[in-house]
Amino acid sequence: MASNDDRRLRPICVFDSGLGGLTVVRELAGALPGEDIIYLGDTARVPYGIKSPETIRRFACEDAAFLLRFNPKMLVVACNTASAAAVDALVAMSPVPVIDMIRPGAAAACEAANGSLIGVVGTEATVRSKAYERAIEACRPGSRVCSVPCPLLVPIVEEGRDADDPIVTHVLCDYLRDMQRRRPGALILGCTHYPLLWDAIAKLMGPDVRLINSGLAAARQAQQMLDAQGELNPRSSLGALRCFTTDNPERFAVLGKRFGGRDLTSVAYVGTDELEGGPR
Ligand code: DGL
Repeated sequence: MASNDDRRLRPICVFDSGLGGLTVVRELAGALPGEDIIYLGDTARVPYGIKSPETIRRFACEDAAFLLRFNPKMLVVACNTASAAAVDALVAMSPVPVIDMIRPGAAAACEAANGSLIGVVGTEATVRSKAYERAIEACRPGSRVCSVPCPLLVPIVEEGRDADDPIVTHVLCDYLRDMQRRRPGALILGCTHYPLLWDAIAKLMGPDVRLINSGLAAARQAQQMLDAQGELNPRSSLGALRCFTTDNPERFAVLGKRFGGRDLTSVAYVGTDELEGGPR
């Protein structure tokens, strides 16, 4: 019998700077179909990837404080940039486990590369932070890492360009030229938007380079952690997805379908002034 404070029935709360984290929600829903998910996309303040670490940290903590009001059993930072800049602050403020994108992605890459070079692509802020380098070093000391910022890819994906669009190919060729030459054993797609360019990146890098989707690695870690703690939702039906956005819910619902791979039937507006007000 489930009691009112049964942790298994609590939602998983997820946030991102905008729409991209819905690619992580897609993986979470695949790994944990029975869970209720509450998602916050901070579309009014996106992109985080070109901002200073201090600003990213402040925004991330405000996003988390809003979500913690829903009494979740787990907080997922579905944004590589926010994970890179703010994971310590988020862990410190959260009474529930925090899953970030960096550590699961780094661990999956170490396994796939098996001692060969690991490539990382991400936003300017993620690459500048060297968070992936630190996580890879902690996981497999002495690993060689090569990181490249790809700032144009976020707006290109948000504009709806597909993996076979000539503009995508051109921009990717330019960013990945050096990476192609260095032939890493694994390449971490260290940004929420890049899984939508999976086919184009795989084609450019060739079959010997294993692509790592950090969102998928994080979803697996979330599943394992909830299972180990006996906190999986026991229901056999599908969980609900409820979204909040800090700007333009209509646009969020239309574009979000492409990122999340499903219709978004519950999208509500929450103002950044309410986030900045902190927990109440
Ligand atoms: N969600 C961000 C990430 O994964 C990309 C978008 C942004 O720059 O805010 O790094």
